[in-house]
Amino acid sequence: MTHSLDGKEIILGVTGSIAAYKAVEILRELTGRGAAVTVVMTESAQRFVSPLTFETLSRRPILTDLFALDYDKQIGHVATGGRADLYLIAPATANTIAKLAHGIADDFLTNLYLSCTCPVLLAPAMDREMYAHPTVQENLTRLKARGVHVLETEYGELASGLIGRGRLADLLTICGEVEGLLTHQEDLQGETVLVTAGPTQEPLDPVRFLSNRSSGRMGFAIAQAARDRGAHVLLVSGPTSLPTPPGVTRTDVTTAEEMLHAVLGQLDATTILIMAAAVADYRPSTHAPKKMKKQESLTIELLRNPDILAEAGRQKESRILVGFAAETEDLVSNAREKLQKKHLDLIVANDIRVGFGGETTRVTILDRQGQVEELPELSKREVAHQILDRVVAVRRGD
Ligand SMILES: Cc1cc2nc3c(=O)[nH]c(=O)nc-3n(C[C@H](O)[C@H](O)[C@H](O)COP(=O)(O)O)c2cc1C
Repeated sequence: MTHSLDGKEIILGVTGSIAAYKAVEILRELTGRGAAVTVVMTESAQRFVSPLTFETLSRRPILTDLFALDYDKQIGHVATGGRADLYLIAPATANTIAKLAHGIADDFLTNLYLSCTCPVLLAPAMDREMYAHPTVQENLTRLKARGVHVLETEYGELASGLIGRGRLADLLTICGEVEGLLTHQEDLQGETVLVTAGPTQEPLDPVRFLSNRSSGRMGFAIAQAARDRGAHVLLVSGPTSLPTPPGVTRTDVTTAEEMLHAVLGQLDATTILIMAAAVADYRPSTHAPKKMKKQESLTIELLRNPDILAEAGRQKESRILVGFAAETEDLVSNAREKLQKKHLDLIVANDIRVGFGGETTRVTILDRQGQVEELPELSKREVAHQILDRVVAVRRGD
């Protein structure tokens, strides 16, 4: 019988969180899926769970002592890092996250982070206030900007009794992400994926503009996931504060007109177009050269912006086209109509009451064959992979 992670070498880093006991279940799930797992623990982690538990279940010695050379006299962290396909740190404490973000290497687990060349996945776990602290968030942003994959924590009751964000991601979410990173990797090789992301801003005068609440996170997650799966990725982004995923070529635009030109200018090279941007439907008919003075009342005339997706649909050729439909009502019927009208292969409908601007989202994916798949609330990274799974299926003609 074959398993999804057969032949994969995973390092599981366990740190000193109250959720450390959940790492035992993660180990069991990963080995159950066929992976060989080496566990590395911090000193604090050993206060929560005995290394013996992990040793028994992984059937391997547990790495705790940086200064113990391994059996063939290699330097342990260098040898282990070089062999691994993935380094998963779950749970990751605020302390360890800070060390990773700043290159501090004072134990086995943090040395391994600096010496491994494989993808790194963090699953943070901590109390609500710790997780919300700007220092922790800044450190996570730093790590993400360097290509570290970070799972969103879950909302719920915490060990302290507080309710909020900070719980370790669910076991199946963590293992699903591991599987995604290890098994999807090359199925978009040879494709050029153009992703649009973020809002557009339509200027009214030099200081004011019309826009929307899009954060750009969905589009950036798609760009990153497509890159992980071997695609050459072009990202056309409206104004956002998000860092460019490493290896992705980004063009910054402000207005819908600029986005249209940036997309059409790169369309010939594109084999898959995914329009995740929240393009403003309208723009002010005039753009005042000077700041508009305060008036008793003001009427602004709006003009329709170009429909980038419809334009790309007219020039479709063999390209795969994926659109998004953000709705507050009649989600599926509106999305279906848009799919047909704009010659799309797939449409991702999201109820903007969940997820617009946030880290997670809930979407329904529709295809040309009339299939309608409603996904549960997932991180945007996971949704990105789900969308790309279906893009790959369209390419294969499934
Ligand atoms: C009972 C208890 C529970 C803790 N849970 C967490 C936690 O969930 N997340 C966290 O970041 N720190 C937690 N801490 C604090 C860490 O154990 C502490 O910051 C430690 O230095 C982490 O070391 P490490 O990152 O090297 O494992 C907890 C401490 C105690 C005493």
